[in-house]
Amino acid sequence: MIVLNFKLKFNPFTNQPLSNPNIFAGREQEIFYMIKSLFQTAKGNPKHVFVTGERGIGKSSYAKQIELIATGDRTLIDRIGIDTDRHVFEFISSKHTCTEGNSLEQIVNSLLETLKEKVSRIPKFNVKELDISFEINLGIIKAGINPKGQIEQVPSELINAFVSVLKQLSDKVMYVSEGLVLIIDELDKVVNTANFGSFFKALTERLIDKNVMNVSIVLVGINGTMQKLTEQHESVRRIFHEIEIPILNMEERKLIVTNALNEVKATVDIEVLNEIAHISGGFPAPIHLLGESIYDCDTDNHLDINDFRIGLDKVIRYIKKSELKDKLKGAGSGRYQQILRIMASYPQENVPLSHISQELGVDHPRQYSTNIRKLLDNDFIEKVELGIYKLKDKLLRTYILNVAMLEDDDEMGYDEDSDTNIIH
Ligand SMILES: Nc1ncnc2c1ncn2[C@@H]1O[C@H](COP(=O)(O)OP(=O)(O)O)[C@@H](O)[C@H]1O
Ligand SMILES: [Mg+2]
Repeated sequence: MIVLNFKLKFNPFTNQPLSNPNIFAGREQEIFYMIKSLFQTAKGNPKHVFVTGERGIGKSSYAKQIELIATGDRTLIDRIGIDTDRHVFEFISSKHTCTEGNSLEQIVNSLLETLKEKVSRIPKFNVKELDISFEINLGIIKAGINPKGQIEQVPSELINAFVSVLKQLSDKVMYVSEGLVLIIDELDKVVNTANFGSFFKALTERLIDKNVMNVSIVLVGINGTMQKLTEQHESVRRIFHEIEIPILNMEERKLIVTNALNEVKATVDIEVLNEIAHISGGFPAPIHLLGESIYDCDTDNHLDINDFRIGLDKVIRYIKKSELKDKLKGAGSGRYQQILRIMASYPQENVPLSHISQELGVDHPRQYSTNIRKLLDNDFIEKVELGIYKLKDKLLRTYILNVAMLEDDDEMGYDEDSDTNIIH
């Protein structure tokens, strides 16, 4: 009999950028670098950074932790053990997350709105006095793509207006804060629609011209965005120090799980930690996904291998089913599907081409080299060494093996004990 568990409990895992510093794992070097930059900015030597990395690697979460640190939260600093020589960070932060179609003007306005809102909450301030500085109408200034589809040069009015408001703000908040941190996340969504390279070059120079030395700009975007900015203006690389968020090592992967479970006083078997760490491939998102599902299945506050199996099964059969199905379909049809299925059902993760050739019934990998190349380009597989490849997404591998291949059989209408029921 299935015992239903209808008890409510808080689940510490999340699919959102991580705001809880107690769960945040790894990135010590990257955090320390940013703390040094903030410290320099606070002392009047402004530093700007560009946070880069693959989609889902944890860029927004890193930026969130930086924002917390900059505005005075010491949890992560103390946990990592960074000695700030009693310096207390007291920046005022503003963040804009770009969405497709955002203009430069909208981004600037959004950053200023947030700053205005935060500054107006500081008790000593006369909000009315500040409001004047926001009278500047950015509405008339347009920067974007012209009808011919060419990138327009950034109007200096926009930069002047932006800097003028930032100057007034930073002067006004000088006695209660050290400066301003401006964060622009998902810059990749908009980078092609305006000359952001020139914009940031001009903006950072203009700030210095106007003697605004306590503003730090943090840009966030997937790999390749920095390259585009540099093409737009070569000085970008000199102005923005690039911080790449790396893959998590085994210890860091496990730490996410134990940290999260610690928040709810739950424990976990080492075996489960190893499985989650392995299947994640070093990305934090699958760790949260599995953690959430496994913790949800658990009834005794201790996650064992049985909870893991049920939780993983729920992920591939329900929670992520349609996403994994679409991803698999996106690999292409025919031989692409055959190759992925052959690779998923091989007993080891590293699959020799000789095995694929044999299963496909061809003499030489040359006969399907186009398929292999495209699967490599689209990140479905990776090369381990000469003639040996593996599937990149381990969750997809589990899905192919346990769901997709069984459904193929259903769809193809094989009957249970027919001897044609062999997967090729
Ligand atoms: N250092 C970390 N420790 C624990 N969880 C993390 C960490 N970095 C990211 N995450 C989690 O991983 C997922 C993806 O992170 P996110 O910051 O949104 O990635 P990105 O912005 O690079 O696409 C989120 O669920 C987030 O909570
Ligand atoms: Mg992000």
